[in-house]
Amino acid sequence: MKVEERKSKEKSINNFFKRGYKNDLNRIKDADVDKFSKTAKIHVEKITETQSKSALDVGCGTGGILLALQKKGVEQIYGVELCGEGIEVAKKRFEEYGDIEKANFFQGSIFEYTIPNVDAITIHNVMSCHPDAKGIAIKILEGNPNQIVNSMPRNIAILRIIAFILSIFTKLFMNGFKLYVHDTDEIRKLIEDAGYERVDYMKGFYWETSVFIKI
Ligand SMILES: C[S@@+](CC[C@H](N)C(=O)[O-])C[C@H]1O[C@@H](n2cnc3c(N)ncnc32)[C@H](O)[C@@H]1O
Repeated sequence: MKVEERKSKEKSINNFFKRGYKNDLNRIKDADVDKFSKTAKIHVEKITETQSKSALDVGCGTGGILLALQKKGVEQIYGVELCGEGIEVAKKRFEEYGDIEKANFFQGSIFEYTIPNVDAITIHNVMSCHPDAKGIAIKILEGNPNQIVNSMPRNIAILRIIAFILSIFTKLFMNGFKLYVHDTDEIRKLIEDAGYERVDYMKGFYWETSVFIKI
């Protein structure tokens, strides 16, 4: 995907999320795993299970998954997030409820970030709002993590139809923000070809979560 096209799409993504994150600035909260979505819980569980000492969250939003990981023993935390408001909230949460000294945040696109060499990388519901899921997968492999946990929408006809209908609406009223249902098999193969094995796979109606371990 051309850089200018990507940047324009990322501008729409930023605009879409920033209002919600701005509201969160007035209610800084601890991470309550019990209130996490089912898939987010799986991310936290799978990464702590392998006793990872460092983790990167791609598209970390307001840092909930990272804060939960730190509390469960992950020592070095990295978060990358397009939206400045998301990063601001995440930092405040770590200042108040975690250890900000052991957390590193980057505001900007994953494509403009130097991926640190971490034990685990989590990508929770990020590919669904970015046009270049394949590019994200290729980029994270630069960090050579031992474990990758990724949740993205299942590639099934009904979801492709829903995403298409929603896109007409969002294109008109939300500055071009779009939901994507990517080719999940292509992403899986790409990661497997880079030397990983999918060791866990869970699916609900909408999302699927894959856990990969470096062979
Ligand atoms: C649906 S939200 C999920 C947030 C968080 N992962 C969670 O589960 O709570 C998707 C997030 O990915 C971020 N994002 C999308 N594309 C990105 C990119 N290229 N680089 C960094 N962050 C990105 C968005 O700004 C948004 O905060």
